[in-house]
Amino acid sequence: MIPADLAPAIIQARLRSRVIARSLEVVGEVASTNDAVMAAGRTGAAEGLAVLADRQTAGRGRLGRRWASPAGVGLYTSILLRPALPASDAPLVTLAAALAVAEAIQEASGLIAQLKWPNDVLVDGRKVAGILTEMASVEAWVSHIVVGIGINVNHGPADLPEEVREVATSIRVAAGRSIPRGDLAAAVYNGLDRWYQVFCEHRSEAILERARQISATLGRPVEVVAAEERWEGLAVDLDADGALLVQEATGAFRRVLASDVSIRTSQ
Ligand code: BTN
Repeated sequence: MIPADLAPAIIQARLRSRVIARSLEVVGEVASTNDAVMAAGRTGAAEGLAVLADRQTAGRGRLGRRWASPAGVGLYTSILLRPALPASDAPLVTLAAALAVAEAIQEASGLIAQLKWPNDVLVDGRKVAGILTEMASVEAWVSHIVVGIGINVNHGPADLPEEVREVATSIRVAAGRSIPRGDLAAAVYNGLDRWYQVFCEHRSEAILERARQISATLGRPVEVVAAEERWEGLAVDLDADGALLVQEATGAFRRVLASDVSIRTSQ
């Protein structure tokens, strides 16, 4: 059963994209939209395919975390991309998607959204959305990329998992009003279409520049927690490939890659 605010016709009427979500599957329930799109990618689905679910029963976040995905309130969508690039360029795709999500939230709600490196979108300093990018590669080249986007849209405080209530919010909580999820979905797809085009044209400096403008991380002290190491520094810039540049107290700079660390920004 698909709720009225996610009706495909509503979303399609607002789509201005060339590629993203031109093929759109809206489903009532799925285990994980990332798993569904990854499977479609393996069997040859075209670039741009988007799967959007009202509810996920096994929504996944980064670093093996669960992404709570109750029905009726959130936006859970994954998009298939097939860029011709080496796997090492993939982090910029996550940044491009994060820009699309932050700008869509702003467009749909009027709220100011910021990026917390590498893949969180914040409103009022609290997490409102997250991105899980997964990739299938052949040798060192991308075969396909799945960009999974989860947004807390119309959640009331009780809809957010207890363990994240202190650090998370929803658009409804922050804006004081609900917004139609279909309108937000279309804004995300249109924005991703624009930023993905910038990415494909190798204009990565434009992505980095916009990400610097709306960053909640740069200029802040951060704690980097890697598998066998924990250290602190000042987040100073984004490197050309989207890595975070952190300066330690000694003055030395270190590159931080999203794949092996989590960042804790001191508030
Ligand atoms: C994170 O912040 O850790 C990333 C969360 C990503 C959640 C989205 S919801 C749609 C897609 N399907 C999933 O199972 N995960 C992503």
